[in-house]
Amino acid sequence: MSKRTILVTGGAGFIGSNLLHLLVPKYPDYHFVNLDKLTYAGNLANLREVENASNYTFVRGDITDPQFLVELFSRFDFDSIIHLAAESHVDRSISDPMSFIMTNIVGTVNLLNAARNHWDGAFDGKRFYHVSTDEVYGSLGDTGFFVEDTAYDPRSPYSASKASSDHLVRAYYHTYNLPVVLSNCSNNYGPYQFPEKLLPLFINNIKHNKPLPVYGDGKYTRDWLWVGDHASAIDTIFHQGKTGETYNIGGNNEWKNIDLIHELCKVMDELLGRAPGTSSELITYVKDRPGHDRRYAIDATKLKEELSWEPAVQAEEGLRMMAEWYLNNEEWLEQVTSGAYQNYYEEMYGKRV
Ligand code: NAD
Ligand code: TYD
Repeated sequence: MSKRTILVTGGAGFIGSNLLHLLVPKYPDYHFVNLDKLTYAGNLANLREVENASNYTFVRGDITDPQFLVELFSRFDFDSIIHLAAESHVDRSISDPMSFIMTNIVGTVNLLNAARNHWDGAFDGKRFYHVSTDEVYGSLGDTGFFVEDTAYDPRSPYSASKASSDHLVRAYYHTYNLPVVLSNCSNNYGPYQFPEKLLPLFINNIKHNKPLPVYGDGKYTRDWLWVGDHASAIDTIFHQGKTGETYNIGGNNEWKNIDLIHELCKVMDELLGRAPGTSSELITYVKDRPGHDRRYAIDATKLKEELSWEPAVQAEEGLRMMAEWYLNNEEWLEQVTSGAYQNYYEEMYGKRV
């Protein structure tokens, strides 16, 4: 196995930490440098499993600062980047679009520039992996799937900022030959997900007997991917993906929100020893999210046929593993939901009822 020095951005977030849990022990000859600003979504408690590994270094920093990136590249001489750092929550992008523009667009361009300048045309063995979302493709009707060349049609400030970053990454490939690879992935769920996204929020609310705010009619559809499956797909694409290519990653797990919520309620009743039906009584229909995309669904045939990757975890099994993890990790949950979290949550919920 060759030695590599890999910059992972956003490694203290949900997907980044799950990715490092996979990669750090699996590749002892690689050195992983985790660059993270530690926003509300980034938490060093997500990284206890790897923090003492000799092939892992944490650096706190902000990708919107180009000079800092120049210094970081000359300090570590990275040959690869796996770029996950982002503002990632659609509801927040509606109330504060500018932080999404800064981190997701400007931050990505800063990284592209830092890599391009540092590598200075010597691209052999180099790789810039950009992690993105299926939300860039917009909204589907009742049928059809997103494929890699589906036209971009983003509708939220979050998805527009990610679409913009995807375009810029491809532009650096075409214009400067920067050796990029991209993936666009469906909704992730699993351990270490900050409790503002649907599933961790609802697990936390059920635990505390709080209302479960279902947006609109609840019939919005998402494809759900176990975060460990996403991490293994990133590992596969990082090592085997073709330069300049994009791969869609999906879970083959389409659910209408309300059906998924009922399934979660069932699991939580069992795990908490509550009578069947107790948790679903907390379901509360609230005002819809503006511009709410009706349906996302991924066709991941390319990844399956070219790189032989398929998801392993189905939603029923994954929901149970996730709920058990949250119930067994109370200290983590308390830590990430203390402080500013409560105010944010009350404010968001207040706007919807
Ligand atoms: P997250 O919000 O949990 O984590 C993002 C991380 O980025 C945090 O640790 C945060 O501190 C860090 N960060 C934010 N701004 C930064 C900055 N300016 N400089 C340095 N670090 C900064 O997000 P996630 O859910 O783990 O998503 C990771 C990536 O995967 C994102 O690019 C997201 O668009 C993409 N993605 C997420 C999903 C999903 O379902 N969560 C699905 C598809 C793609
Ligand atoms: P979310 O987890 O925010 O992911 P995304 O918007 O990126 O798909 O939301 C998943 C779905 O759940 C989406 O259709 C919005 C809906 N939703 C609710 O109904 N209530 C909530 O409190 C949240 C956070 C989401």
